[in-house]
Amino acid sequence: MSTAEVSHDRTCRICGGDLDVFLDLGRQPLSDAFVTREGVDDEYFFDLVVARCLGCLMVQLVDEVPRERMFHADYPYRSSGSSVMRGHFEDVARRMLETELTGDDPFVVEIGSNDGVMLRTIAEAGVRHLGVDPSSGVAQSAEQAGVRILADFFEEARAKEIRQADGPADVIFAANTFCHIPYVDSVLAGVRELLSDTGVFVFEDPYIGDILEKGSFDQIYDEHFYFFGASSVTRMAQRHGLELVDVERLPVHGGEVRYTLAREGAREVSRAVEDLLAEEERRRMHTSEPYEAFAQHVHDLRVQLRKVLEDLRATGARVVGYGATAKSATINNFCDITTDLVSVVYDTTPEKQGRLTPGKHLPVEAMSGFREDHATHVLLYAWNHEAEIRANERAFEERGGKWITFFPEVRIS
Ligand code: SAH
Ligand code: TYD
Ligand code: ZN
Repeated sequence: MSTAEVSHDRTCRICGGDLDVFLDLGRQPLSDAFVTREGVDDEYFFDLVVARCLGCLMVQLVDEVPRERMFHADYPYRSSGSSVMRGHFEDVARRMLETELTGDDPFVVEIGSNDGVMLRTIAEAGVRHLGVDPSSGVAQSAEQAGVRILADFFEEARAKEIRQADGPADVIFAANTFCHIPYVDSVLAGVRELLSDTGVFVFEDPYIGDILEKGSFDQIYDEHFYFFGASSVTRMAQRHGLELVDVERLPVHGGEVRYTLAREGAREVSRAVEDLLAEEERRRMHTSEPYEAFAQHVHDLRVQLRKVLEDLRATGARVVGYGATAKSATINNFCDITTDLVSVVYDTTPEKQGRLTPGKHLPVEAMSGFREDHATHVLLYAWNHEAEIRANERAFEERGGKWITFFPEVRIS
C-alpha cells in the first residue's frame, strides 16, 4: 500500500532545527492495526526512522502517520487490561483529588482518557471532569463507566470550546498520550488557553533515558512520535510560556517520567527537575554518543533474538507469544518473526483476538488457549507487565515452561 500520505519532514516538528537520524527500523505497519484474514493485502506501511533534534534535543520520528489512521472507532488498546495499571491510575486520581482538586468546584480534563481507567475514580468522587479521546470505541467504554467524554482529538480549537463551556481547568492530565501527538504547538497553545492561572499540565510517557539504558527499541512505533526527557521537555515548554516544575520517575511501562508543567513563574521548580537535568547531562544525552550506542545495541538484539528463536525451532520447541502489544509490532517486523518462530500470540483483549498481528500475521488468540497450549517457551512481548503476568502464570513455570525476555539482553529463564 502507498505511503504517499505520510509526511517526510527532515526538520524538527517542534523547533524546525536539523534532525540527526540515529536509527532506521525499516518499513513498518501500524502497530495497533490487527488485521482480519481478508485484510492482509491492504495493510498500510510507513518508514520507522528515529532522530534527535540538534536544536531542542527532542527525540522524534521522522515520518508522521495521519492521526485518523491510528485513532478511530476500532482502536483496540484498552488501558484497563492490566491490574497494575488500574491500580496506578487509581493512585494518580486519588493523589490529584488530595493535592490539586481541593478548591471550590474543581475541574480536571484528561487528554487520551481511553476506557476511563483514571477518570472513573474522579467521577466516583463527584468531581467535574472531561475526558477527551478521538477513539470512539474506547470512549464509549469510558461513558459506560460514568465518565463524561468528548470523543475528539484534543487541540487548540477544542481547548477553547472546553474553556468556554466549562471554565478553566485546575489540572490537565495525559498518560501515554502526549508523546503520541506530533502537533504539540496546537496542544500546548490549547493547554495555555484552558489551564487556570495556577493550574498544572501533568503528563507521563516512556522516558528516553530508560529506553537508551535498556535498549527497549520496541517503544518505537507509529503512535510513539516523541521520546521525552527533562532537557527536551524544558525547551518545549519554554516555547509556549510554560515551565517544567516537577518530574517523577515511574516504574510502569518499562520506565516513564511524569512531567508537571505550569505557567512560567506560577510554581516553584522542584529539586527533582535539576537532578534529572544534571543526570541527562552526565549521560551526555545532548550528544550523539548514547544514541549511536543504542542503535548498535538494537542491531545486536535483533541478531540475538533471531538466533535464540532459530535454535529453539531446530530443537522442536514450541514458542508462543504473550501479549499482542503495540510494541510487539516493532519486534516482529524488525526482527522478521514469522509463524515458524512464534506460532501464536495470546492476549486478553477481545478486539485483538481472532485477528492477525500487523505485518507478520501471527494469529492472536484468547488467553484461555494459553492454559491448554503445550508451549515450551513464551516470548514475553508484554515485558512491561512481567511481574503481573508471571504471578498469574505460575502453572506454566511449574510444568517447566520458560520465558524469553529481550531487554537489556535476550534471556531464557
Ligand atoms: N491514558 C491511557 C490511554 C493511552 S493510549 C493510558 O495511559 O493507558 C493513547 C490514547 O490517546 C488513545 O486512546 C487515543 O485514542 C488517544 N489520543 C490520540 N491522540 C489524541 C488527541 N489528540 N487527543 C486526545 N486523545 C488522543
Ligand atoms: P501494553 O504493554 O500495555 O501496551 P502497548 O500495546 O502500548 O505496547 O499492552 C499490553 C497488552 O498485553 C494488551 O494487548 C493486553 C495484553 N495483556 C495480556 O494479554 N495479559 C496480561 O496479563 C496483561 C497485563 C496484558
Ligand atoms: Zn527541535
